[in-house]
Amino acid sequence: MRYREIVILTGAGVSAESGVRTFRDNNGLWEDHRVEDVATSEAFARDPNLVQRFYNLRRNQLHHIAPNPAHLALARLEREFDGRVTLVTQNVDDLHERAGSRDVIHMHGELRRVRCTRCDTVHHWLDDCTQRSRCPNCGQAPSLRPNIVWFGEMPFEMEAIHDRLTRCDLFVSIGTSGSVYPAAGFVSNVRHAGEAHTIEVNLEPSAGASRFAEHRNGKAGALVPVLVDELLGVGRSG
Ligand code: APR
Repeated sequence: MRYREIVILTGAGVSAESGVRTFRDNNGLWEDHRVEDVATSEAFARDPNLVQRFYNLRRNQLHHIAPNPAHLALARLEREFDGRVTLVTQNVDDLHERAGSRDVIHMHGELRRVRCTRCDTVHHWLDDCTQRSRCPNCGQAPSLRPNIVWFGEMPFEMEAIHDRLTRCDLFVSIGTSGSVYPAAGFVSNVRHAGEAHTIEVNLEPSAGASRFAEHRNGKAGALVPVLVDELLGVGRSG
């Protein structure tokens, strides 16, 4: 089957082999913090220093991790596929970009960006961010927050994502537990669910496995390069 428009959704499982802890494998704790204590706007209003410290720790982690074969294969797919590839990630790390992917939609935001709560500008930021950090645009402090989508906030670029889902003829979900919406519902939004093919690549069947036509269970680092070779027609005789 020749595909023309592919949408890829990735979750924490695609970064697991790069040493980034997934969420559900850590019984819902984020670096030993309860989610509601660090990943909500209420938590930020209540204790901004704790929340800034939590994200500074995770942002600093970016310097100590590297893309794995799954990230590299997805970048190769974007480069070599004769059609459109849209990569939507729930991950806030920069491993897809460092693997060479260019068109990445970070629907839950990015650790390497901060947003000014005063002038609403977004800035590339790799150092620690604190309540004393000044906005590069309006110069105010305290003003900067992680450009991360917290629980209860609207994920980014939902319209663009929905548009790509309704046009794609292949949807591949990689390394996500299918437990957090709206990403968990994407498989049901693909173009006329009957026509588009849907593949779930995950360590084990996710909560939404039954909504996928095809399942490939195992490690992303091993399975994704094989899938990309197939999609690029690599290794096919004749
Ligand atoms: N290869 C493939 N899949 C893996 C691997 C691996 N090496 N390791 C773990 N997995 C799978 C797990 O089996 C699990 O189903 O990846 C999935 C990771 O699921 P979660 O930890 O729930 O992460 P994710 O689905 O990305 O979470 C979605 O929830 O906490 C919020 O905003 C946060 O973006 C996150 C969202």
